[in-house]
Amino acid sequence: MSTLSSKAFESVTRLFHSVSGIRLGENKQALVAGRLQRLAAEAGEPDLDAYVDRLVRGNAPAEEMTRVIDRLTTNETYFFREPQHYNDLAARLESHPKGQEFLVWSAASSSGEEAYSAAMVLSDVLGASAWRVIGTDLSTAMVETAQRGLYTLERARMVPPDYLKRFCLKGQGPHDGSLLITRELRERVRFQTANLMQQLPSELPKFDVIFLRNVLIYFDNDAKAQIVRRVMQLLKPQGVLYTGHAESLAPLGLPLRSLATAIHGLG
Ligand SMILES: C[S@@+](CC[C@H](N)C(=O)[O-])C[C@H]1O[C@@H](n2cnc3c(N)ncnc32)[C@H](O)[C@@H]1O
Repeated sequence: MSTLSSKAFESVTRLFHSVSGIRLGENKQALVAGRLQRLAAEAGEPDLDAYVDRLVRGNAPAEEMTRVIDRLTTNETYFFREPQHYNDLAARLESHPKGQEFLVWSAASSSGEEAYSAAMVLSDVLGASAWRVIGTDLSTAMVETAQRGLYTLERARMVPPDYLKRFCLKGQGPHDGSLLITRELRERVRFQTANLMQQLPSELPKFDVIFLRNVLIYFDNDAKAQIVRRVMQLLKPQGVLYTGHAESLAPLGLPLRSLATAIHGLG
């Protein structure tokens, strides 16, 4: 197994930061080496330093950089994580004017569990009336996983039993132990790539609710403020922004009002 020198670690984390905005600290050297190992071998360059050199010099194909981004981002997520937000969403839906489309954005959707959890609540409260969910993520691999809507049952521990019955199909035979989100729900949820550190795709509409959870933790305060400002531009005037419970927006001095823990409205 090849090792990653400190110099190569610095170069690859600088490159990763320039694309994603995420700063990986010095304590992540072993983690980065471990994550790059298989990619390097698959690219026919098992020597990690040489592999990094190729990336940094721009001598690797563009898809190689996409693979590196996919490997170095942390995609941990599960259904109905931080359930207070879903309770808040259900309460807001009760008072939403009938006939007006309700739009939800999962702005760092990872493998899609957050977007589908929101869709389950929307379908439960609003039925077939007008609503849509859009999920976006930096990682192409995560977007593809989200589009499939196929998960291990273990990821669904927090899905209310009634929702499991209505919105998830239990795998049988070779698919034992997995679940597939029903086609009806999948058709209401769209996923695409978007980098929160860059200009957002122009086709994104304005949203009633934006989930921006467990992604700001990776950025310094300047980058956090930039991201939140960019995301806020897509919030309807009465819309709300949900952030992760471990992420404070207070030091950023943004024109946002705290409505409850990790729930914000435009200030
Ligand atoms: C830990 S997951 C959070 C998933 C979900 N929001 C949740 O709270 O469970 C963080 C996600 O942020 C994505 N991400 C990281 N940097 C990003 C960026 N610059 N633009 C868009 N997504 C990004 C990662 O690819 C990853 O899927």
